[in-house]
Amino acid sequence: MRTIEWKDGRVEIIDQTRLPAELRIVSCGDHERLARAIETMEIRGAPALGVAAAMGIALAGRNSRAETADGLVDDLERAAERIGRTRPTARNLFWGLEMMRAAWERGRGGGAAAMREALVREANRIAEDDVMRCRAIGGYGAELIDDGDGVMTHCNAGALACVEHGTALGVVRSAVQAGKRIMVYACETRPLLQGARLTAFELKSEGIPFRLITDGMSASVMQRGLVRKVVVGADRITRRGDVVNKVGTCGHAIIARRYGIPFYVAAPLSTIDLDVEAPEIRIEERDPEEVTHIGGARLAPEGTRALNPAFDLTPSELVSAIITEKGVFRPPYDLSVPFR
Ligand code: MRU
Repeated sequence: MRTIEWKDGRVEIIDQTRLPAELRIVSCGDHERLARAIETMEIRGAPALGVAAAMGIALAGRNSRAETADGLVDDLERAAERIGRTRPTARNLFWGLEMMRAAWERGRGGGAAAMREALVREANRIAEDDVMRCRAIGGYGAELIDDGDGVMTHCNAGALACVEHGTALGVVRSAVQAGKRIMVYACETRPLLQGARLTAFELKSEGIPFRLITDGMSASVMQRGLVRKVVVGADRITRRGDVVNKVGTCGHAIIARRYGIPFYVAAPLSTIDLDVEAPEIRIEERDPEEVTHIGGARLAPEGTRALNPAFDLTPSELVSAIITEKGVFRPPYDLSVPFR
């Protein structure tokens, strides 16, 4: 089952807010519904957001009443603007929009009807491509994992964060498929618990051995020698190898360095942003209630003010290697190389 799929002129997604209690499919008939699904995190994870952005544009094309190519482009621009306002940090979302913009510019001469079809084809191509990229990442990454390793991961960088297979969890999957015995240490990932809810769901469904830990236990499991590798995903990576990923990631990288444990980042090239320096990356700030409450129930005293940055920045000097679909890159990083 895929996380996101084009089906009969609609976009079907697995509702990740309901997992693991309920496997519910949401069917989005227009880009506005898909944009809301991104905001509410019914769909989440950087590569999945790239595909969702592309499919949102394909939906906008289909629903547009414009009869001319120029009229259609006006509608597509409006849809791209709306989708671009959903979540700011994952590079893939903007990459998806750029890919679709290139497709509509290429198709402009052929008229509105042909453009609409070309946009659907392009969105589906991007989705298929994501599957191939994740499998390639898995293949390269699996070579870095040894039989018997304990592998720690943070958040969910699995099939649910992509179309299928996953990036960081794709590395684990590929290693397991290659016959390696692995114990995964999955950090629960406060405040939204993507690790406890989604990574645990994926690992359990596939029978991959794992232990769920709270985020604060990462030093303990590394100090005790239980973890031999840390593998995480990414939302945006700079040319110099600085990595923005789910908040908590940087702490794990610092601890891994202290205990001499390799810290790997697995991500497709669509996560790499060659035009940005780390301090310029916009880190999404989410509702503080996600910290003071859990599942609607208050944890902290009334009036407590909380911070809620959704991501943090891991400086490149803490990253042992970046695993992409074009191979494994090590410091000193120049991530323009795989684009050449
Ligand atoms: O806020 P989320 O759940 O969208 O954050 C997701 C992450 O931080 C993932 O680690 C990242 O997107 C990589 S997913 C392959």
